[in-house]
Amino acid sequence: MIAAPPSIAPDPIFHLIGLYKADTRADKADLGVGAYRSNEGKPWILPCVKAASERIQADPSYNHEYLAISGLDEYTKSASKVIFGQDSALLKSNRVSSFQTVSGTGANHLGAAFLSKFNSSKTIWVSDPTWGNHFKVFETANLQIKVYPYWDPATRGLNWEALKDTLQNQTSPGDIILLHACAHNPTGVDPTHQQWEELSEIISAKQLYPFFDAAYQGFASGDLDHDAFAIRYFAERHAEFLVCQSFAKNFGLYGERTGALHIVSKTSVVARAVDTQLSALQRAEISSPPAYGAKIVAAILADPELYQQWRNDLITMSARIKEMRTTLKSHLESLKTPGTWDHLVDQIGMFAYTGLTPGQCQRLVNEFSIYLSSNGRVSMAGFNDSNVKSIAKAIDTVVRETK
Ligand SMILES: Cc1ncc(COP(=O)(O)O)c(C=O)c1O
Repeated sequence: MIAAPPSIAPDPIFHLIGLYKADTRADKADLGVGAYRSNEGKPWILPCVKAASERIQADPSYNHEYLAISGLDEYTKSASKVIFGQDSALLKSNRVSSFQTVSGTGANHLGAAFLSKFNSSKTIWVSDPTWGNHFKVFETANLQIKVYPYWDPATRGLNWEALKDTLQNQTSPGDIILLHACAHNPTGVDPTHQQWEELSEIISAKQLYPFFDAAYQGFASGDLDHDAFAIRYFAERHAEFLVCQSFAKNFGLYGERTGALHIVSKTSVVARAVDTQLSALQRAEISSPPAYGAKIVAAILADPELYQQWRNDLITMSARIKEMRTTLKSHLESLKTPGTWDHLVDQIGMFAYTGLTPGQCQRLVNEFSIYLSSNGRVSMAGFNDSNVKSIAKAIDTVVRETK
């Protein structure tokens, strides 16, 4: 017998999506969900995905058999090349264990479960703020969560000195440090290349374990290599770290749950032992990962034409988002909305961290049917040519009237 469990609050983002769906006002806008939308406000199936999907279904040998525990081999191999680079020396060293996971969330979960069992420290440091689900995933894996400063509300940028100070003076050897590989969620603020280099030095000196979360490679800048800078820099300098890779955003495969976990070990011998431990964890949790998204990604990455189409699709998505940043900023500036709005274009990726207060966000939801997180985070993909002007007007109203 179990005691009746107490009810708890719903997940804020999924709750917001539910409210948006139930809203019958015609001019509603969804700036909450982290999913790409076309300029018509519709979900977008990437042309490379559509082509690969048709090819897979037309293949007479197509079936719905189980994948291996570690996933589809062609998929994990090519996914590791996307993140570490085609000619990665690290991959050639055979020190990487690559497992297909239930998207990026599953990679975070499997990585955390592994470290919770085998890392010397059970403490993980996450940025303040971070993706809300990090807390839930790491708590579930029995890691102890601590936060390091990241966002500076005064500059609407990186709180660099405080971040370094915390890592240097408050961490212990072996502690895990979560790093967003690019397009930090929710702030859209990334370290510069020079700051990544300094971070790498501090992390080595303090013997921290880097835990990279890479959910936006190529989606952020439009360039897969540019967005992998931090991971590839660390790959040349750190003997042990891991990478959680999601193909939800950059392939638009959200619901197909297509991701991978790459654990880098000191030697190839250790890596093969890690493979066996990941197999045991994965078998107990999900037995084997979902097949369809992995087949699509593997088909695209194996075909030079489809690969090129994917690169074009990434540019289509990232360019539209960048354009929306500029357009929103220019509407707010022409309205003379109090405050500065440069941060909208300085930030990168899916999200903008607007600086709107919880009260202002609440009014946008209640009065204007503009759905956004209460921390002021907006998905730039929710903006389009038809709604950006009216959303700017609504923001202008709440900024003037509400604290
Ligand atoms: C920082 C970060 N990590 C991981 C994920 C995982 O997403 P998914 O499980 O859909 O791949 C997301 C998605 O929003 C994210 O923003």
